[in-house]
Amino acid sequence: MKFLKGTRIPLSEDSFADTSAAQFYDEHARRFMGSVYRRFAAKAARINIPGKQVLDLGTGTGRLVIELAKVRPDWQITGADISEEMLKIARTNTEQAGLTDRIVFQPTPAESLPFADGSFALVVSNSSLHLWSDPAKVFKEISRVTSPGGYCLIWDNMRYNILNPFLSLLGWAMGMNQSQRLLWLKAVRSSYNLGEVKALLRETPLRNARVTLVPRFLELCIQWKKT
Ligand SMILES: C[S@@+](CC[C@H](N)C(=O)[O-])C[C@H]1O[C@@H](n2cnc3c(N)ncnc32)[C@H](O)[C@@H]1O
Repeated sequence: MKFLKGTRIPLSEDSFADTSAAQFYDEHARRFMGSVYRRFAAKAARINIPGKQVLDLGTGTGRLVIELAKVRPDWQITGADISEEMLKIARTNTEQAGLTDRIVFQPTPAESLPFADGSFALVVSNSSLHLWSDPAKVFKEISRVTSPGGYCLIWDNMRYNILNPFLSLLGWAMGMNQSQRLLWLKAVRSSYNLGEVKALLRETPLRNARVTLVPRFLELCIQWKKT
């Protein structure tokens, strides 16, 4: 089975640093990722969090935080990202959605967050873990900024090389052009498989997190509660 899972081909965390990469991603997200954001937001909204402050790590162009703010009008959300160019688009998207009073953005690497201990009742992240240069450091930061009784919910692609031709075909059927399919395949190839994520979590404060695979949606899901 090992060869089917293949070797991880990492991407740089700066993959979305320039304007054209950010614009290309936002168009991709607008066209193809709406259902992921809605499912993520619906799942997060059901968690009974001990507060109203929510943090999204690797928020990108803000499409997940906008969806979260729509389903939970009582939440105040901070979107953090290492790329200023992604955050520029996130601010525009938030303005257009009329949500600037509920969502703020913070340029920062997830490995070193400029927030006080226990600032957030929920920390979320979608499709960013595979880019973090030091995931263990990010997990430590998540633990630090989460308030007691708070939660963390992380989704990312799962890597399973045998699926690559199938993904390419699926992307084509969804109307993706070649560059859009390549963006998706590169993200999947740089993602972790279930065993690797469990190993990454093992030496961190999130070691008791629940890690599951959602094969139907080709996703890895990490859920953690701070006791
Ligand atoms: C594939 S995009 C996903 C964006 C968004 N979460 C979404 O679901 O549409 C990954 C984002 O993670 C950001 N990122 C990568 N490494 C990061 C790090 N170490 N700290 C903070 N953000 C990071 C990138 O700049 C990019 O905006």
